[in-house]
Amino acid sequence: MAAAKDLSTIAVEKLTARQASQELARLAQEIARHDKLYYQKDAPEISDADYDALRRRNDAIEARFPDLVQLDSPSRRIGAAPSQGFAKVTHLKPMLSLGNAFTAEDVAEFLQSVRRFLKLPADEEIALAAEPKIDGLSANLRYEDGVFVQGATRGDGAVGEDITANLKTIADVPQRLKGRNVPAMIEVRGEVYYARKDFARLNAEREKQGEPLFANPRNAAAGSVRQLDPSITAKRPLKFFAYAWGEASDLPGDTHWEVVERFKTWGFETNPLAKLCRSEADALALYARLGEKRADLPYDIDGVVYKVNRLDWQERLGFVSRAPRWAIAHKFPAEQAVTVLEEILIQVGRTGALTPVAALKPVTVGGVVVSRATLHNEDEIQRKDIREGDHVVVQRAGDVIPQVVRVVEDKRPKGARPYKFPDTCPVCGSHAERKEGEAVRRCTGGLTCPAQAVERLKHFVQRNAIDIDGLGGESIQELYDLGYLKAPADIYRLARHRDRIVVDKKAGTGVEGWGALRFANLERAIEARRKVALPRFIFALGIPQVGEATGKLLARNYGTLQAWRDAMQRAAAGDADALAELDNIEGIGPSMAEDLIGFFGEPHNLKALDDLGAEVEVEAFAQPAAANSPVAGKTVVFTGTLETLGRNEAKAKAEALGAKVASSVSKKTDYVIVGADAGSKATKARELGVATLTEDEWRKLIGE
Ligand code: IVH
Repeated sequence: MAAAKDLSTIAVEKLTARQASQELARLAQEIARHDKLYYQKDAPEISDADYDALRRRNDAIEARFPDLVQLDSPSRRIGAAPSQGFAKVTHLKPMLSLGNAFTAEDVAEFLQSVRRFLKLPADEEIALAAEPKIDGLSANLRYEDGVFVQGATRGDGAVGEDITANLKTIADVPQRLKGRNVPAMIEVRGEVYYARKDFARLNAEREKQGEPLFANPRNAAAGSVRQLDPSITAKRPLKFFAYAWGEASDLPGDTHWEVVERFKTWGFETNPLAKLCRSEADALALYARLGEKRADLPYDIDGVVYKVNRLDWQERLGFVSRAPRWAIAHKFPAEQAVTVLEEILIQVGRTGALTPVAALKPVTVGGVVVSRATLHNEDEIQRKDIREGDHVVVQRAGDVIPQVVRVVEDKRPKGARPYKFPDTCPVCGSHAERKEGEAVRRCTGGLTCPAQAVERLKHFVQRNAIDIDGLGGESIQELYDLGYLKAPADIYRLARHRDRIVVDKKAGTGVEGWGALRFANLERAIEARRKVALPRFIFALGIPQVGEATGKLLARNYGTLQAWRDAMQRAAAGDADALAELDNIEGIGPSMAEDLIGFFGEPHNLKALDDLGAEVEVEAFAQPAAANSPVAGKTVVFTGTLETLGRNEAKAKAEALGAKVASSVSKKTDYVIVGADAGSKATKARELGVATLTEDEWRKLIGE
């Protein structure tokens, strides 16, 4: 197979439809993963800016290929679906997000679009309520007859989590609204946040206790509010600013400003820096002023929100997909600081990728102490000519993993040498090779490399994979170092080492920290996972590029572990039919196929699979609605333009009925559904004697 291109580096205008479809699948998976990390685990891995870039690329590809928009496209979702553990709350009015402005021109364009939409003359004043954009998490508080009855997170915008008990512990959230003339029902919305000094105190405490640190105040707020035990939330000094509302039986004003003023009289905290701006110049002046004050504020802000003040105008402007037309967030540039880069460290990931990380002299950037920053890859270091000992500009783009922006060249110490990226793995010493066209250098040690083995184990047990409670990263590292865990199958054999692990004080044996109860709990968690669903199992193997979505695709196509494994081994051995079948699965591109084949071409991976096979039962993939659908288990291909259904909708429907949708016609195809202007696929179907159906016939077949 030809060397795979990294599609993410191809400009949107240059993508072919096939590449675009692969890119959309990859982006959907990637965005969903980051949403989950951000919203459910409160542990994002990338900066807001990088996240926005992923979404922008997704939107641009969809704009160019509207046909490829998937039903579950990230552009149709906001944030992440609620996690388990809290009751779900369907918002009476969706909780939306905001469009962004980065420059004064963007703000002018926003006002122009408001003017155009409302057909306002050029001299008509558009008053804006301008407020700092607080970097916390939004919450919806429902009051009935002035009494706080329910509080919820935003969740995915449509459905959030019921966190009433937790919100009740926040002093800024009134239990009962003050004053007369309180509406019979109103939902007050605003931001739950953590003050910087409280955040610093919390992390210092956590460090002392050996608990993982929160990356920033936002994550601390999110983590605190989503505690299942409200008594933990109660110990966290959370704060709340009210700035919006949802459903209301009656509103105390005709403008945003009036309503928020009223919130104050009811007992809410509202932001004292908010200002009613009469013009664009007013708004930009406030933005500049808040930008200067930003570092000295007691809480993190990442921009200024401008809202059209008149509520009748807001009403007319309405919403587009994820955001209101009547508001925009004017973002601040990332906060920066200068510090010394003491050393470049190399981390080794699950697939052997060597990732350079900067060890920094600790410095405060926007209220957070930073001592590590990502350097991305070898080329990035070279491009920026980053050397050990350099003074560097680091930035936190509203978030988590700080970046090294550039070197301060006139502060370079004498004798500093250009950085030479290692060509051996710093952990196992194997050769680290960089394939042509790839940005990363990888350790070739495979599972003999302890770093890779440990990362693979961590991947295997993670929540979305096999999901073993009580086996975190540190436990894995410890048990690996002690020799009790080498490969995933060893997890299921851990009980054999019970006597050596569990502390026996009398005998003076065991591993510190491993009491009988802890070990028993872990054993129970492991036993509960001896039965695994096929999609999870495939994902857990940690094959490069094979994420959750691909795990599902493969499971749906092959049905059982045995069938999948046989097919992959045949494909790895060069069997043309097996290769064609793999290539034919919609959503699996050539580069993924290459990684799958690569995985099955390695004897040590086959051995790992055999070992696992002896320990776990992998359940066959249950085809949805398989029993009573006439197309269950059939392979279908859509071609040409369909009249009544979008291509993606047709595909989703077919899959929901248990059919497999393929991208090209072969002997194994059961039906080809031929739309208008169908080309070679229809011809091929006739040549091969595969049944062809018109769209109408297909709809009849599936009982529509
Ligand atoms: S108004 C429909 N005002 O920003 C508009 N949002 O990116 C509702 N945020 O989810 C939001 N400060 O968590 C609004 N003064 C403010 C805000 C604010 C922070 C957050 C909020 C929202 C997100 C949108």
